[in-house]
Amino acid sequence: MEYNIQSIFNKDLFNNKTLLITGGTSKMLYQVAYDFLSLGGNVALISRRQEELNKVSNELMKSVGKGKVKGYQLNLKDHTKYEEVVDYILKDFGSIDILVNGAAGNFLAFAENLSYNAFKTVLEIDTLATFYMSKIVFVKYMKANGGCIINISANLHHLGTLMNSHASAAKAGVDAITKTLALEFGPHKVRVNGVCPGYIEGTVGFERLSDPSASKENNYSTKTDENEFLKKSKELIPLQRFGTRSDISKAVLFLSSNASSYITAQTIEVDGGQKNIIPNLIVFSDKFNLIWKPKY
Ligand code: COA
Repeated sequence: MEYNIQSIFNKDLFNNKTLLITGGTSKMLYQVAYDFLSLGGNVALISRRQEELNKVSNELMKSVGKGKVKGYQLNLKDHTKYEEVVDYILKDFGSIDILVNGAAGNFLAFAENLSYNAFKTVLEIDTLATFYMSKIVFVKYMKANGGCIINISANLHHLGTLMNSHASAAKAGVDAITKTLALEFGPHKVRVNGVCPGYIEGTVGFERLSDPSASKENNYSTKTDENEFLKKSKELIPLQRFGTRSDISKAVLFLSSNASSYITAQTIEVDGGQKNIIPNLIVFSDKFNLIWKPKY
């Protein structure tokens, strides 16, 4: 990934600022970390896999060549460890000025096949983690110093989304958290906003959610590439393309910067206008009958 030298953002924009990203080793949020470092900031990453953290931190340090990056291993399902990890980050960096709650879990599954634990797991990773990490960072740092919280949402719950009752519920909760925390944290100069990505190419979400045959019930049988379904889907997006990781990063950077100093309690949709035409692009897949029609 290359830093776009035509960026509208000032190169020193995030000098002396620390960004904490949960789910920070994902492909989508890698771009956010990269851009933030390029603009003078430091980055703390949280992920459950130490190996991934080491790999991503090293890659970032090598490719950007400035700023400080450090990874912290934490399974977000273990809420008892949050305080300890946030304490370490504050000790290492001195501040957490921006928190991006980006960790998410999703897969395509019919409601009738979802176990209690499967549904709960997605809520824990997306919703509970967003709430609890925001709370801990607020209490330990932002309440006294101000800051920005940015929650990564999705457009699943704006209407119904097939095979996604778990993640739709989870992201509806995330949006509610964005709005309520914005009210409670606002008087402490903490802005709380969200970014709602559409179909973003080159992400795990795109791979997992753009092929209805890739569900557990179908043994993840095929992997979609630039097939007819994707072509049709793209044509239906008003801006006629899928999103890029950079599109998401630019929205996060905007919400992290003073350019958005009077914006709070908003979730910005970065989806090329897709939601306004049809959120269930999956209905155009030639495998749609696999998920819609009962099997007799
Ligand atoms: N379909 C149905 N159920 C599934 C599933 C699938 N594709 N994948 C996992 N589950 C169920 C498991 O069977 C388990 O339920 P059970 O105990 O009743 O069997 C439950 O979900 C938890 O799975 P587990 O693998 O133990 O949880 P985890 O915390 O290790 O993994 C996931 C979390 C399931 C969300 C995993 O897919 C993940 O970590 N993904 C991270 C990346 C990601 O999803 N990114 C996409 C963002 S859009």
